[in-house]
Amino acid sequence: MSDAGRSQREPIGVIGTGYVGLVTAAGFAELGSRVFCVDIDAEKVGRLRAGEPTIYEPGLQELLARNAERISFSTEPGEALEHARLLFVAVGTPPTYSGDADLSAVHAVADAIPPASDRALVMKSTVPCGTGATLLRSFSEQGKAALAYVSCPEFLKEGSAVEDFMNPDRVVIGDEGGWAGDAVQELYAPLRSTVVRTDIASSEMVKLASNAFLATKISFINEIANVCEETGADVVEVARGMGLDERIGPKFLQAGIGFGGSCFPKDVDALKQLAGNTGYHFQLLTSVIEVNELQKRRVINKLQRHLGTLAGRRVALLGLAFKPNTDDMREASSLVLTARLLADGASVSAYDPVAEDRARELMAGLSFAPSPLEALQGADAAVLVTEWQELCELDWPAVAQAMAGDLLIDGRNALDPEAVRDAGLRYEGIGRR
Ligand SMILES: NC(=O)c1ccc[n+]([C@@H]2O[C@H](COP(=O)([O-])OP(=O)(O)OC[C@H]3O[C@@H](n4cnc5c(N)ncnc54)[C@H](O)[C@@H]3O)[C@@H](O)[C@H]2O)c1
Repeated sequence: MSDAGRSQREPIGVIGTGYVGLVTAAGFAELGSRVFCVDIDAEKVGRLRAGEPTIYEPGLQELLARNAERISFSTEPGEALEHARLLFVAVGTPPTYSGDADLSAVHAVADAIPPASDRALVMKSTVPCGTGATLLRSFSEQGKAALAYVSCPEFLKEGSAVEDFMNPDRVVIGDEGGWAGDAVQELYAPLRSTVVRTDIASSEMVKLASNAFLATKISFINEIANVCEETGADVVEVARGMGLDERIGPKFLQAGIGFGGSCFPKDVDALKQLAGNTGYHFQLLTSVIEVNELQKRRVINKLQRHLGTLAGRRVALLGLAFKPNTDDMREASSLVLTARLLADGASVSAYDPVAEDRARELMAGLSFAPSPLEALQGADAAVLVTEWQELCELDWPAVAQAMAGDLLIDGRNALDPEAVRDAGLRYEGIGRR
């Protein structure tokens, strides 16, 4: 974009600078906007001001550094409110005990906007369908009728979030008409993406339904994998054959040890609860969730089948993050796996290239190794939990030499079984012959 084009870009506020907020801020700054970031976490704001990474996301640090002059960070919303009409909200919406989304952070942000400001809240956080309507109602009750609301759900994938921001499959904008939806569309215009303009409730539902569908696809192929194990078929072959059907497509057909992360588990649950709150029992999603929980535990059965009791056994976990290229440990399958192994009396050693610090906050009782081979040293069995590139390309003869046993469970069907077997290891995938 030309310098002239950049200088005309609308300044924006971004409230919440986690995975979504930070990528959104860096992305819009790259497109030329002045971006005012706000976060209540003073330590995070301090680190961001100092140019320190707060999350691991490929390309993000470079993008932030390149646009440092256009991005500022604060714990107070004052500057953002003064300079920006569009306030992107990217605060967390974690699950409550009931499975409903916890909207307290979203409400805290909305309540902090002073009356009579002709601003717009642009909701990037994933919220239940109906949240926009509720907020608009409360705006008018609080004398904030000039405040507009736009639903603009985020679809980025951790691990490729910067790339996804720059090349979105689509941009969904839900609004009630008025200036704000058009202004958001204008901000995204340089990306030349397909834009879906719709009402607020439908936009909110696009996000929930998309995640629920993807989670369903994963649980479906995982169940197929489990049946393959009983019938002698190979799920990798089955998925290849299925995926060539353009009605099905090849993505999200990789069987494994279950989905995790900060989105799928909570969003699927939130949609199920949302339906339940209206009196509708979303039977399919109940199964999707249950299949996923059981899938995480099937690894334990595999280990037991080969090793007998797990008490006193040493198991190495290769990878801990919920997927490669991120340090996000939220709802990672490794959490369940480690807890189950320790409960059965096994000792656990683990290696992850970037998630160790976050893992240490969540996991106790296991040892963290500085390299894969050190994690594998003396192990009776190893489980590939996260398919980091470096873990898929290990020196298998060296792995075989480091381990005390010979069992390698490929929890992501990401390894070359022949290469593993040629090294003298016993390979077992998920649903593979
Ligand atoms: N992470 C993803 O891959 C992803 C993808 C799409 C959508 N989402 C959705 O985006 C939202 C944010 O997710 P995330 O992963 O970035 O969360 P996160 O936990 O990484 O970040 C949330 C940030 O909001 C800050 N915050 C909380 N309350 C605040 C307040 N009142 N004012 C200012 N800042 C506040 C927190 O300190 C934190 O830095 C969630 O609703 C999530 O479901 C996430």
